[in-house]
Amino acid sequence: MALSGSNAEIDPGGSSIGTAAINRAAEALRDGKLVVFPTETVYGLGADALNPDAIARVFAAKGRPADNPLIVHLSSVAEVPAVAIEPPDLALWLLERFAPGPFTVVLPRGPAVPPAVSAGLPTVAVRIPSHPVARALLAAATVPIAAPSANRSGRPSPTDVQSVRRELGDAVSYYLDGGPCAIGVESTVVRLDEGRCRVEVLREGATTREMIESAVTELATGSKWQVSGPGFTSAIGVAASPGVRHAHYAPTATVVPFETDADPPSFGGNAPRPGEDDEPSPGPFALVHLSAFGEPWRGNPPAYHRRFTDVEEYARELYRAFRQADDAGCRIIYTELPQDTGLGRALRDRIVRASRR
Ligand code: TXA
Ligand code: MG
Repeated sequence: MALSGSNAEIDPGGSSIGTAAINRAAEALRDGKLVVFPTETVYGLGADALNPDAIARVFAAKGRPADNPLIVHLSSVAEVPAVAIEPPDLALWLLERFAPGPFTVVLPRGPAVPPAVSAGLPTVAVRIPSHPVARALLAAATVPIAAPSANRSGRPSPTDVQSVRRELGDAVSYYLDGGPCAIGVESTVVRLDEGRCRVEVLREGATTREMIESAVTELATGSKWQVSGPGFTSAIGVAASPGVRHAHYAPTATVVPFETDADPPSFGGNAPRPGEDDEPSPGPFALVHLSAFGEPWRGNPPAYHRRFTDVEEYARELYRAFRQADDAGCRIIYTELPQDTGLGRALRDRIVRASRR
C-alpha cells in the first residue's frame, strides 16, 4: 500500500504479511533499496549485504559512524560459506545450536562481502533470525541481508514498525509490519578466540551467557572452552566490538539507573529520589521498574510509570517505555537495573549505556 505524500510503502498486515508483500520487499532489496523488517529481537534496516551502494544507504539513513560494522542475516547455516571463510567448527556448532534465534557470531569475512559492511574489519557478524517475516524475506530475497537495528544512530532500537517510520520516514523504500517484537533487545554477539579457547560475548542478549556456557560443556572438548563476558580483554585485537564505543539506546530524557533496593520504597544507589523535600523537583519524570515498592514520590507522581512482571517483559518493553516516556514529556527516566544474571545482564548493559551519552 502506498502512503499518501510518501514514496515509502508499508504492509499493514501485522503478523499475517502475504507473499505479495514479501516478494515486493525482496525485489526492493535486490534493487539496492532499504527495507525495514521485523525480527524476534528488534526491527532491522535491511539492505543487500553484497551491494556496496545499498550498504552506504544504510549508514546514511541511520547516521551511523562508518566504523561500526553491520550484522549479516542469513536463512540457514548452509549459507555461511557465501559470506565467511573457514568458520571454526565451534562457531558452526553454536550456530546450529542457537540459530534461528537471537544469536550472532563473528567469523572471518568472505571476499563477496564488501568491506564497508564490516567497517573494514576482516570479520563479518552472521545471524539467522527466527521471526517468520524475516525468514520469508530472506528466502524471497535470495541474498544475505545486512541489517542494523532500524533506529537513528544512538537512539533506542525500535520494537514496532511505527517507531521506525517516525525516525526513518522516506529513507526506507518498504516497511514490513510484523507487529511488536517478542524479545525486545538486540541479539547476543559472540566471537571465538581459538588460541585461548574462549567464546567471548561481545554484546549480551537473550541467548544468555549461561546458555552458551551450558552448551559448551556438552562438547567433547568442552572443558577446554570458556565463555567470557564483554569485560574480557582479548589477545586478538583491540576493537573487539567496535559498536560499544558509540553512544547507544538513548531516549531524549536522561536515563537514571538505580539498583534494586532491599528496602523499598527507597530509590537507592545513586539515583536522587524524585520529589524529596530537600531536592528541587526534577520536572516530569518516568519510573520504569520490576520490583515492588510503595509510592516514594510524595505527591509528585511519575508522568509515566511502568512496572513489569518479569525480566522477559522488561526486555520486551524497555525501549518502548523509553520512547513513551519521551512522548509523555518526561525529563528523567528512573530505570531499575535487574539482577546481573541471564537476560538481566543484557538489560543492565542497555540501561547503563542509555544513561551515558
Ligand atoms: O538483534 C540484532 O542483532 C538486530 C537485528 C536487526 O538483527 N541487529 C542489530 O544490529 O542489533 P546493530 O547494527 O544495531 O548492532 C550490531 C552489533 C554492534 O555492536 C556491532 O559493533 C557488532 O554487532 N558487530 C557487527 N559486526 C561485527 C564484527 N565484524 N566484529 C565485531 N562486532 C561486530
Ligand atoms: Mg543498533
